[in-house]
Amino acid sequence: RPPTAIAPSILSSDFARLAEECQRMVDLGADWLHVDVMDGHFVPNLTLGAPIVKSLRKHTAAFLDVHLMVTHPAQWVKEFAAAGANMYTFHLEAAAAGDDTAAALAALQAAGDAGLPAVHELVASIQAAGMLAGITIKPGTPVELLLPYIAAIDMVLIMTVEPGFGGQSFMPPMMDKVRFLRSRFPDLYIEVDGGLAPDTIQAAAEAGANAIVAGSAIFGAADPGAVIRQLREAVDS
Ligand code: DX5
Ligand code: ZN
Repeated sequence: RPPTAIAPSILSSDFARLAEECQRMVDLGADWLHVDVMDGHFVPNLTLGAPIVKSLRKHTAAFLDVHLMVTHPAQWVKEFAAAGANMYTFHLEAAAAGDDTAAALAALQAAGDAGLPAVHELVASIQAAGMLAGITIKPGTPVELLLPYIAAIDMVLIMTVEPGFGGQSFMPPMMDKVRFLRSRFPDLYIEVDGGLAPDTIQAAAEAGANAIVAGSAIFGAADPGAVIRQLREAVDS
């Protein structure tokens, strides 16, 4: 199984002090920095894009784990690669049908075991651009729909809240998805994102998650380094 990665979500940081906030997290033991890109269409919130990643890259050598909550994930691959992103994780629903999640689920079901060509092509283009490729699913999307792509990708991200905002409550039923994947793919990076904190990490760790995103639990803590250590110890034990 790949090494544990604790990934503070910079969505909960002070955007006006991004470089210092990121350095602080690295100094406190963060493995990756999780960067939430939202376009105001795929999710009802607007955050940042490749120019910020490009600026940030000048200040940090950290692994940038970029989560694209955007309608057209294929549109931004080259820009994020050039900006210095390391992991490019897109929503399976968006790759299948943009904003229309119901249409996406129907198309993904209809594609069967072979999967959708557009998704395979997007994964290949991310890797050809020199990034690792991740695929994520919203809470309402069945985990089985990921199966056609797993052999080709570097990470699965199981959303444990509806994407769009930090500070929401962890959804325990999503752990069934993590268990399903871990039982079949012992070497896969399985990331969880949304509501991860010292009181929810045990469930995620037991299910088999090994990449942990946490925003408000880390940035909101009096001792963020202690939270990072607690998360890591739960996954490693
Ligand atoms: C939500 C984002 C998360 C968010 C997590 O759409 O993908 O990365 O920052 O925040 P917390 O840890 O506060 O739930
Ligand atoms: Zn995220």
